[in-house]
Amino acid sequence: MPSIAHDPGHGLWILSGPGSSYVLHLDDAHRLRGLHWGPRLTLDQAASLLNYPAPGRRSFEDPADGTLDLDTAGAMRYAHAGIQVRFQDGVRDLEPRLVDATQSDSALVLRFADRHYPLIIETHYHLREGTDVLERHVRLQHTGGPADGPITVVRADSATWVLPRLGDYRLSQVRGQWSAETRLTRTPLPYGETVTTSRRGITGHQANPWAMIDDGSATEEHGPVWSCALAWSGGWKLTAQRLPTERVTVSAGFGHDPVTRELAPGEELVTPVCVGAYTEDGFGAASRLWHRYVRDHVLAHPDEVRPVLYNSWEATGYDIDVTGQIELAEKAAALGVELFVMDDGWFGARTNDAAGLGDWTPNPERFPDGLAPLIDRVHELGMGFGLWVEPEMVNPDSDLYRAHPDWVLHQPHRRRTEHRNQLVLNLARPDVAAWVHGRLDELVTKNAIDFLKWDMNRPFTEAGWPDAEGDPDRLWTDHVHALYAILDRLRADHPDLRIESCSSGSGRLDLGILARSDQVWASDNTDAVDRVEIQHGFSQLYPAQVMGAWVTDSPNPFTGRSVPLDFRFRVAATGVLGLGGDLNRWGDTELARAAELVAEYKAARHLVQLGEQHRLSGQGDLTAVQYLAPDGRETAVIALRHARHFGHRDAPLPLRALDPAARYRDTATGAVHHGAVLLTHGLPLDLAADDHTSTLVHLVREPA
Ligand code: GLA
Repeated sequence: MPSIAHDPGHGLWILSGPGSSYVLHLDDAHRLRGLHWGPRLTLDQAASLLNYPAPGRRSFEDPADGTLDLDTAGAMRYAHAGIQVRFQDGVRDLEPRLVDATQSDSALVLRFADRHYPLIIETHYHLREGTDVLERHVRLQHTGGPADGPITVVRADSATWVLPRLGDYRLSQVRGQWSAETRLTRTPLPYGETVTTSRRGITGHQANPWAMIDDGSATEEHGPVWSCALAWSGGWKLTAQRLPTERVTVSAGFGHDPVTRELAPGEELVTPVCVGAYTEDGFGAASRLWHRYVRDHVLAHPDEVRPVLYNSWEATGYDIDVTGQIELAEKAAALGVELFVMDDGWFGARTNDAAGLGDWTPNPERFPDGLAPLIDRVHELGMGFGLWVEPEMVNPDSDLYRAHPDWVLHQPHRRRTEHRNQLVLNLARPDVAAWVHGRLDELVTKNAIDFLKWDMNRPFTEAGWPDAEGDPDRLWTDHVHALYAILDRLRADHPDLRIESCSSGSGRLDLGILARSDQVWASDNTDAVDRVEIQHGFSQLYPAQVMGAWVTDSPNPFTGRSVPLDFRFRVAATGVLGLGGDLNRWGDTELARAAELVAEYKAARHLVQLGEQHRLSGQGDLTAVQYLAPDGRETAVIALRHARHFGHRDAPLPLRALDPAARYRDTATGAVHHGAVLLTHGLPLDLAADDHTSTLVHLVREPA
């Protein structure tokens, strides 16, 4: 049961989950401090922190820097401030005073008003039942009239998280680029401000809006970890700040430098949610908490296992028609595929990437009778039907652009930079958003479409809106809100429709889009060896249930590397398995083995997708992940080894979270293992000597 307690005498609020507390303190100057974030405390224990000696004498700075939860700019605070504004008269300092506090067992709202200017700042806290997860956001409201003019919001971070004093600080994040996303980095946190940001209008491949902090000694299994993540799919900025005073904060929110946002009199700005969590027992436990949070509080369909899909993109590129797609669908169905997804190239004049985006009607030469013959055949084969769309885009060579050249993001007197020969539609315009929703709604209403792969293949450039009423910079946030609204409406009107988010791979992966999609395409790079690293980083925050992974051809069309079929399957089997190879070129032996490997995945996928994930520390080139059923009755282990060295056999792999008194039977070999032995000495591995070998072991607990 979450709880929020208040001690008015000391100006304390304490927000507690089952294993952690977050303590706020309002000081005499009405500054809201983050007093504690860590193991659970009582109000009494928290109050004793107020007797701690103040830091020694400080000149040239306010000792409150780096300790404020509501971190407003002003006075002698020179560090990063989470809330920064500029009033009409040029004043930038804020002097908020608490005017109201409302609380329930799980929610707290603290309402501050500036001492002079017409600005309300509310900071909202929401504890999620049964978890140590705290959701936060901020609401700003201009309470003045026309004479006050607009207030410019320079920065409105959703949350500033105040870290406790640690001996040292280390920052974990993911970095990347197209086809090399979500690669884990752990670096000592330097003094100063470490900023990760996206100025691209999308979450971005280069960084992902989350961070974890530990004292440098946490491991996969041990040690406290503080983490936070932002639920937003547009531009963002996360500032991890280490002051010379050894105070550390992590502040995160939407928007990026130098874009600001004007608040007109009466207007309000509500930030997206930033979620924070304190965990013990290492990065593994932190990831499991995030996975549980995503499943319990973000995803719309967390109890559904995602189907094994086939996607035609790598097989056929733009060279598609009804006959070829039916041929592939028949081959895919024979392998046990459950969802057939037709990718790019089915509409308008889209025979390559230079034309047709925006014209969402089937190409009459390729699909003379529309999509129905393909969809009917796919359904007849017992599979769902999925379709690729890229609704936020337009090729200049399209009927849509010829009719509405003003619908794209553009600035007067500036070029319209094309990337992949396309421009971005300005969804902040209500007419454009309505058109996009209308076309998609018509598409899924007129055709029996079960799944959309919603792609977004270029960042914003020349992000202008010349005839906007008011501040054109609102397009950065309004585009994302419009995208969310379209997705929400489509999903409400078509409750059986499932959605995959894609942005040239995982360029749009975040808690915001996950609330509106069922899975995310993890990377355009389908090389199984590279995928091990990409997926390891993906798994730090996001669960296997949303991680789309395909088995494609060997040599890989992108990297040129040859990798055995079993290894390609086992790597993809650590997420939502899909197939994306050219099945017309696969021989009979390969097809027969593929069918076996699809069946192997299906038998274990409830564990991979719905179970609890333990990244087992591999030795050397070995990567292994264990998935445990929520009731503990089954577990699956996927072990992947790139290369064996010096002829050494693989050491047995110790498993986690089993019942030591129970015995577990290997469903493939019938071998029975003791829980206590698996936990201490490990699961014997018998991987072949070749490079890129793998196994999937499925263990079922024997009846007592
Ligand atoms: C992007 C996606 C790919 C594919 C192509 C189609 O690159 O990430 O999976 O859909 O677009 O153009």
